[in-house]
Amino acid sequence: MTALHDDFDPEYESEPAADADPSIVESRLPPLPAPSAKPTVHPGCCLALSGPLLAYLTTLLPARPGLALSVGSGYGLLEALLLAEPYRLNVVGVEVQPTSNRFLPASHHRTVPGTRFLDALAAESAAWMFVYPRRVGLVDEYMAAYAEGKVERVVWIGPTADWEDYIGCFGQAWEIQVTGANGVGGRAWEMIAVATKLPP
Ligand SMILES: C[S@@+](CC[C@H](N)C(=O)[O-])C[C@H]1O[C@@H](n2cnc3c(N)ncnc32)[C@H](O)[C@@H]1O
Repeated sequence: MTALHDDFDPEYESEPAADADPSIVESRLPPLPAPSAKPTVHPGCCLALSGPLLAYLTTLLPARPGLALSVGSGYGLLEALLLAEPYRLNVVGVEVQPTSNRFLPASHHRTVPGTRFLDALAAESAAWMFVYPRRVGLVDEYMAAYAEGKVERVVWIGPTADWEDYIGCFGQAWEIQVTGANGVGGRAWEMIAVATKLPP
C-alpha cells in the first residue's frame, strides 16, 4: 500500500509539492538554530544535533541533485538543517498526516495518510534516512517495496540498543557499517548504521 504521491520531480524546487500542507508557508518557517559544537537536544527532535554530526551526515547522504528521503521526519529540524547552508543537501521529509512538521518548507515535505503507508518517492531516492523510527515493520516495508529502485544507501539513526531489532531488515545484498554517534558529534548511546547496496 503506497501513498499516491508519485508526481514529484526531485530536481524541481521552485514551487511547493502538489501535496504540500497549505498551512506551511515558507516565509513563516521558524528560524533554524545555529548548529552547536556539542550534541544539543532541540524540542521535537529525538536525535541530539551538533555541527560535527551534521557535517558527518553530509558525507553519508548524496550531493545534489541526488535525493535523500527522510521517513518520519517529525518536526523536520534535522532535515531543514541539512537542506540549508552550508550543507545544501536535497532532503525531503515524509510524515504522517496531520503532519508535525515545523521546519521543512513545503517543497521538501510530504505526507502519507497513516503509519502503514509508504511514500513512492522512495523509488526515486538515492538514500533513505530513518531517524528514531518507531516500527521495524516500516523499514521492512520500504525495503520490500522499493529496495530494488534507485536507493543505494539507507541511514538508520537511533539508540544503540534498538539497532539489533533493525539489522534484520537488511539482507545479503547490503553491506552494513555501524558508527557510535559519540565519535561523530552525537550522544554516547546513539548509533548510526549505514546500509550500502552491494553491486549485483
Ligand atoms: C519517534 S518519531 C522520530 C521523529 C524524528 N525523526 C526525530 O528524530 O525526532 C517517529 C516518527 O515517524 C513518523 N511515522 C510513523 N509512521 C510513518 C510513516 N509510515 N511514514 C512517515 N512517517 C511515519 C511518526 O509520525 C513520528 O513522527
